[in-house]
Amino acid sequence: REKEEESIYKRYEEIMSTLPREKGWWTEHLYLHQGFWYPSIYLPGVMAVQNQYQAHFSDILLATGPKCGTTWLKALVFAVVNRKLYPSAQQHPLHSFNPHQLVPRLEQTLYLNKIPELDILPSPRLLGIHMPYSSLPQSVLDSGCRVIYICRNPKDTFVSMWHFMNKIRAKVSKAPLPLEEAFEMFCKGASSFGPFWDHALEYWKASLDRPQCVLFLKYEEMKAEPAIHVKRLADFMGCSFSSDEHKEGLVEEVIRLCSFENLSNLDVNKTGSNPHGVVDFQAFFRKGKVGDSTNYLTTTMIEKLDRLTQHKFHGSSLTL
Ligand code: A3P
Repeated sequence: REKEEESIYKRYEEIMSTLPREKGWWTEHLYLHQGFWYPSIYLPGVMAVQNQYQAHFSDILLATGPKCGTTWLKALVFAVVNRKLYPSAQQHPLHSFNPHQLVPRLEQTLYLNKIPELDILPSPRLLGIHMPYSSLPQSVLDSGCRVIYICRNPKDTFVSMWHFMNKIRAKVSKAPLPLEEAFEMFCKGASSFGPFWDHALEYWKASLDRPQCVLFLKYEEMKAEPAIHVKRLADFMGCSFSSDEHKEGLVEEVIRLCSFENLSNLDVNKTGSNPHGVVDFQAFFRKGKVGDSTNYLTTTMIEKLDRLTQHKFHGSSLTL
């Protein structure tokens, strides 16, 4: 089996080496595959997901653009789905595990250089994915499984990504990437799983075409009214909060458990090392605020990103 896996991944690497490429944000290259830019370490896994992953009707895919609120969404979905299994917030797995351990990433962890045995995962299988909608395997559409997408304002996403990539660069002893250089790359679409706008638009359109299967959330709206969105999440996943649960304050408890303040102060997220990533879990928690980009971007940069966003989303009814 190992030999078979090795030859499958070797073939993906050969295909990758024929694709257009750009310098990446840290030591990797970005490769253009089916209209999107992928870091070299993850593209073979993306191809493996496309060819090998068989979605089940009961699967719940947490699809996100990088730095748009993946960690938060994973925590919320895990807490909502498993609320009967773990009634006490004090002994909750989120206190000892990072959300990325509880909801593993398909292309970046499970299919990283191997073909996993996914049938052993408990149902519903909660799976993280950064791949764009148009690159998902056909079984995701055919199975009718649920896909939850979270998006975020591109200015805050960019600034969050720049900080994150510089943490990776520090880890591999590289000097920080100048903000201006990263900005140009982001604007031309050359960022992990970018272009940012195409990624968001594809899921937006899918959420309009197949609302029972694709839920589109916005980070800013969730921050402003978390209770409404936690209820929406539960309704969408077919596990609505009962009136008794409402009365007991369960929605508020989930929000508290998954809040930036709570998660970022837990030992596992302060000092835990990440076996599947280049940086430790701490790197997934920075400020968790809306609008922090104004502290980093010049007026010209803000105007450029706003214009680009308007242009890209023109006629789509999506605003970010
Ligand atoms: P900032 O860098 O703006 O602080 P992702 O999880 O997709 O990698 O996104 C990371 C961003 O989400 C970071 O944004 C991080 O601080 C923020 N974040 C992490 N956990 C959060 C939580 N529980 N609530 C709100 N934001 C959170």
